[in-house]
Amino acid sequence: GGDFNQKIDYVFKVVLIGDSAVGKSQLLARFSRNQFSLDSKATIGVEFQTKTLVVDNKTVKAQIWDTAGQERYRAVTSAYYRGAVGAMLVYDMTKRQSFDNMARWLEELRGNADKNIVVMLIGNKCDLGNLRAVPMEDAQGFAQRESLFFMETSALESTNVETAFLTILTEIY
Ligand code: GTP
Ligand code: MG
Repeated sequence: GGDFNQKIDYVFKVVLIGDSAVGKSQLLARFSRNQFSLDSKATIGVEFQTKTLVVDNKTVKAQIWDTAGQERYRAVTSAYYRGAVGAMLVYDMTKRQSFDNMARWLEELRGNADKNIVVMLIGNKCDLGNLRAVPMEDAQGFAQRESLFFMETSALESTNVETAFLTILTEIY
């Protein structure tokens, strides 16, 4: 961020959800600070980062919320989803279980969030393509049935991270 005063037209809250270790916090670190860490610690409670960007000539402040995938570290669910206009449902494309659990995360999201929330399914760690455990067609099929956007990303290599967030923010707008 620079040293400037900016008129903010919109503040959009976006939440990240998905199993532990799928890379939610590193996607956020990559998007908000262009950083990545291989020895990322499990998130405890809730954290958030903001990033201000221009979408269709409007200044949008994205407030991205990140919580623990591990049940025992999670904070109050209803508060986490309150006011969210976008969500990223993240799985690790090398871990089938993390994809199979997407239905449960989506159920929790739909039970707590606004019905008009924009949701994107994210298959992270696409830099590990040789270890792929979730075929692209499975994810595309799920996304289509549930009316979600879908993208494969790599927080490590920066692949599609900016595009994924920008797509969500543009759709919200
Ligand atoms: P919780 O906070 O426990 O819910 O986990 P998380 O989803 O926030 O996972 P986190 O971002 O902490 O990443 C878990 C591990 O995966 C760390 O070792 C990261 O460095 C690694 N990781 C995250 N994104 C990628 C990626 O795109 N590619 C690879 N190869 N590793 C990644
Ligand atoms: Mg985390």
